[in-house]
Amino acid sequence: MGLGCMNLPHRYNDAALIMNTAIDQGINYFDTADLYDKGKNEELIGKFLKEHNKRSDIIIASKVGNAFNYEDDDVKWDPSRAHILSSVKESLRRLGTDYLDLYMLHGGMIEDNKDETIDAFNTLKRDGLIRTYGISSIRPNVIDYYLNHSDIDVVMMQFNMIDNRPEMLTEAIAAHDVKILARGPVMKGLLTDNYAEVIDRKFKDGVMDYSREELTETLTKAAQDAPLTESAIRYLLNQPVASIVSGASSVDQLTTNLAHYEQVSNSKTTTRDHFKDLDYKDHLS
Ligand SMILES: NC(=O)c1ccc[n+]([C@@H]2O[C@H](COP(=O)([O-])OP(=O)(O)OC[C@H]3O[C@@H](n4cnc5c(N)ncnc54)[C@H](OP(=O)(O)O)[C@@H]3O)[C@@H](O)[C@H]2O)c1
Repeated sequence: MGLGCMNLPHRYNDAALIMNTAIDQGINYFDTADLYDKGKNEELIGKFLKEHNKRSDIIIASKVGNAFNYEDDDVKWDPSRAHILSSVKESLRRLGTDYLDLYMLHGGMIEDNKDETIDAFNTLKRDGLIRTYGISSIRPNVIDYYLNHSDIDVVMMQFNMIDNRPEMLTEAIAAHDVKILARGPVMKGLLTDNYAEVIDRKFKDGVMDYSREELTETLTKAAQDAPLTESAIRYLLNQPVASIVSGASSVDQLTTNLAHYEQVSNSKTTTRDHFKDLDYKDHLS
């Protein structure tokens, strides 16, 4: 179980409370990216780990590939060797550490010069600045290239009962002895007790292949079988995933979700059947 740090509050004390609670509950993997709040997310984590002397207890994953500047909102995709080799130094500085446990390419397209990117990650690994690398992607053709041409250890994908598209890739990924990190287990709050409020706040037009009405109907039915968060975690535990990366923007969300996770082994109900079978339709070759 990892803590997705993308939605941590901007105020340090609030963010630190969440990180502290996560550690107290046994979480030892923090997931971030240079892009999150343009480096400020990494800074929050770095400050926290230093203050609490926790660096060696926590697996830190960060991501690279987006060139941004502080003056405007422009973000430019840049998977070049030069960008990766210089960005890692910035991430290490902000995180207050001299190595990353995991460094991931934050997306990627089939048109990229992928061999150059792979060479940059191999260089960082050889030089000891990163322990492992991987790719965060939902493009089957890109994932396939990295599986066959690099030494990636992980693929990160949005993976949950609603976005169950990764089911079509799990076998191929496992065949390369590569691990899956499932991000978004509660689908931004939809797979929680608060799904009605989350639909109103974030998914007025539905999501993926679900209209708003279908979403409400499906989640209401599934929630009658078992608490949605329990089902969401049980679903992922039945998939070949190495870690479930769950996000929270408040201590209450984190503790509520973790309390549900604790219950997973006590119940056997599975609500996967209520959800549509989705497939990736683009970027297949
Ligand atoms: N391309 C990539 O590499 C990529 C993309 C996305 C995420 N990630 C990583 O994966 C992590 C998890 O992604 P995610 O944030 O999409 O995952 P998630 O765990 O499905 O969603 C977390 C969000 O769901 C809402 N939520 C959680 N528990 C709730 C509850 N009990 N009641 C109501 N709402 C609740 C909160 O939204 P509010 O804050 O709005 O309340 C929270 O910020 C991120 O933090 C990041 O580290 C990576």
